[in-house]
Amino acid sequence: MTQAPVNVTVTGAAGQIGYALLFRIASGQLLGPDTPVKLRLLEIPQAVKAAEGTAMELDDGAFPLLAGIDIFDDAKQAFSGTNVALLVGARPRSKGMERGDLLEANGGIFKPQGEAINAGAADDIRVLVVGNPANTNALIAQSHAPDVPADRFTAMTRLDHNRALAQLAKKLGVSVTDIKKLAIWGNHSASQYPSIQHAEVNGKNAAEAVNDQAWLADTFIPTVAKRGAAIIEARGLSSAASAASAAIDHVHTWVNGTPEGDWTSAAVVSDGSYGVPEGLISSFPVTAKNGKYEIVQGLEIDEFSRTRIDASVAELAEERDAVQKLGLV
Ligand code: NAD
Ligand code: LMR
Repeated sequence: MTQAPVNVTVTGAAGQIGYALLFRIASGQLLGPDTPVKLRLLEIPQAVKAAEGTAMELDDGAFPLLAGIDIFDDAKQAFSGTNVALLVGARPRSKGMERGDLLEANGGIFKPQGEAINAGAADDIRVLVVGNPANTNALIAQSHAPDVPADRFTAMTRLDHNRALAQLAKKLGVSVTDIKKLAIWGNHSASQYPSIQHAEVNGKNAAEAVNDQAWLADTFIPTVAKRGAAIIEARGLSSAASAASAAIDHVHTWVNGTPEGDWTSAAVVSDGSYGVPEGLISSFPVTAKNGKYEIVQGLEIDEFSRTRIDASVAELAEERDAVQKLGLV
């Protein structure tokens, strides 16, 4: 081992994403093959036993990079000294629950977690929120961590980005590695806008390569935006391994950077770019450099894209207003 272990806190560790995610972190895929990790698992008291079972299996994996596992049911302890926080655990929507109820229930989770991160996380803390509604949960946590730079809080739209790559690659009969500069804009919800306006396929403009506006509007965008619901319909459970994979990608890129000539998508705190109100946690095309995500600047936005971006951002603003009314931000 070439360096000290990095502390990685995973909430919702006994859930389905947790089960797929933890083994990949332990194997070194989150931070790289030279970085040992200490896992700090946070669960609600009723699920601690299940998390202990997962920890037993992690032990049984004999992962050379896994320097230890601790399990907590207290957020303050779980985030103490942590460098990377993956906030996966969230309250799922149950029967008869309105959107406002869901936002309130999750506020009860992400407010104390934001406070705990503020109180005790390491100075280089990076936070990825996966639990839905991810953007607004990230906003709640961020607003309760005033001593942590706001840009350390992000929400996951990398799964949407990967879904868009896969759909476009299939349509054009190319590899996902042939495609550059796709972007997800807005909310991780059905209102999101997966854009190929600036995308390139083997160096050529992707929209020209597709040359089928009807496919873009009627197939590509809804397929990507509603993929989560389609997976639930098919599996009877929401996406888990693909979500874990995207979380690994998000943090790996954050730490290691984007390749020259490409970007990725992440929901980051808006600085007002592209008319997205400052402070909203919205998905943008982003590059990563020196351990920081930055919004790609100076892109021309066509009319079709403008309408789609505005609609998704309006939904984010509504969610922010709702949690503001509840006193959660
Ligand atoms: P799951 O129900 O299998 O697991 C969630 C776990 O979180 C449970 O073990 C639960 O006990 C735990 N939990 C609940 N409250 C907690 C708290 N306060 N502290 C710590 N742990 C807590 O769910 P899952 O399939 O693993 O999905 C987790 C979340 O990720 C859901 O909100 C889901 O909608 C979301 N998700 C997001 C994306 C994305 O792209 N952003 C993709 C897939 C799923
Ligand atoms: C997904 O995108 O798969 C998740 O956010 C689950 C969902 O509810 O769509």
